[in-house]
Amino acid sequence: MRTQVGIIGAGPAGLLLSRLLTLQGVDNVVLENRSREYVEARIRAGILEQHTVDTLTDAGLGDRLHREGLEHHGIYLQYPGTRHKLDFPELCGRTVWVYGQTEVTKDLIKAQLDGGPPLLFEVSDVTPEDVDSDSPRIRFTDAEGNPQVLECDVIAGTDGFHGPSRAVVQQGSPGRTWERTYPYAWLGVLADAAPATDELIYAWHPEGFGLYSMRSPTVSRLYLQVDPSEKIEDWSDDRIWDNLAKRFALDGWELTTGTITEKSVLPMRSFVSAPMRRGRLFLAGDAAHIVPPTGAKGLNLAVADVTLLASALVRLLTEGRTDLVDSYSDRALARVWRCTHFSWSMTSMLHRSGDDFDAELQLSQLRRVCSSEPAARELAENYTGLPLDV
Ligand code: APR
Ligand code: PHB
Repeated sequence: MRTQVGIIGAGPAGLLLSRLLTLQGVDNVVLENRSREYVEARIRAGILEQHTVDTLTDAGLGDRLHREGLEHHGIYLQYPGTRHKLDFPELCGRTVWVYGQTEVTKDLIKAQLDGGPPLLFEVSDVTPEDVDSDSPRIRFTDAEGNPQVLECDVIAGTDGFHGPSRAVVQQGSPGRTWERTYPYAWLGVLADAAPATDELIYAWHPEGFGLYSMRSPTVSRLYLQVDPSEKIEDWSDDRIWDNLAKRFALDGWELTTGTITEKSVLPMRSFVSAPMRRGRLFLAGDAAHIVPPTGAKGLNLAVADVTLLASALVRLLTEGRTDLVDSYSDRALARVWRCTHFSWSMTSMLHRSGDDFDAELQLSQLRRVCSSEPAARELAENYTGLPLDV
């Protein structure tokens, strides 16, 4: 087998890269080690920046997103006694969209299987080889158990945090990684309950952070800050609703409850790996970086990476010019660090840890963002998404 770009991983990064390359006439093959059902069922975050919506729309993937997605004009920041709306169009002229990453993935897979390039599920032993040469290859075992070799011009490592690509990049160049594990986790639930809010609520509370998000007019997505060692079995539905009611409590407002259909505990970490390239192997998305979910940046960062990478690869493979592939890692990392800082700052401002001194600092910062237009604008610009080149 031969192709121009061998793509490892069918998450949003790999699938969107495949789509962008195909639209520009560049051949590619996507290799995924899980099943289609597994990939489509993974529940992840749900906020799309304007540039992500524009990229998906321009790639012909906007129909259902525009039909079922919910355009949001801001967020609420809450601390005891106050729920303050940050109006994004007023502050920075942009909006965001609520549309689950699960739905983005389904749309991408549907488009791909509907006449797009090959997408092979349930492959195993995926190994990038000879990435320092101009003709790298990927060895893998197909779903029927047959060993295969995919000869490529370029390999894209979009295989998420646990995939094999990052280690290959790190082995070849004097790279490094940075990591921060936060001393708290999120307990996330999906509930058949009409959202009791028009915009997302990010709530600081003495007992821990709470986030009120949603997936549709009938489905709420809610999160509670918990200790990373918490066991989900210890959280009955009643205990979850009681804690949510307490953390979002505000005079005159009531939480709507409903059937909880999914619950899990999610760890929180920041991670960056540099460079994002070794020879003809390029990393994008979670393969190179992880952000805590507080700023809703993970998916948007993956989309920004592959937008940069697609234009760089098209230039290399159709014009033979190396300028954009040579600058890819630095350009992508500049944006990665901006989003890493923003996600860390949102996380640090809103989660309870440390002592009362820390709590007063957080409350002071929240009051500042809720009363100063420049402080609010800084948050709004980062939340709604900065330009591709920061
Ligand atoms: N071989 C083939 N595929 C692999 C391998 C492997 N050895 N290892 C992992 N994969 C696949 C995973 O099964 C997954 O489908 O790579 C894909 C990576 O997808 P994601 O983890 O969704 O990462 P990415 O596409 O970069 O998307 C980033 O996802 O994790 C969230 O918060 C993150 O929203 C962000 C987005
Ligand atoms: C979500 O809806 O899952 C979500 C929304 C906003 C965040 C994180 C997660 O900051």
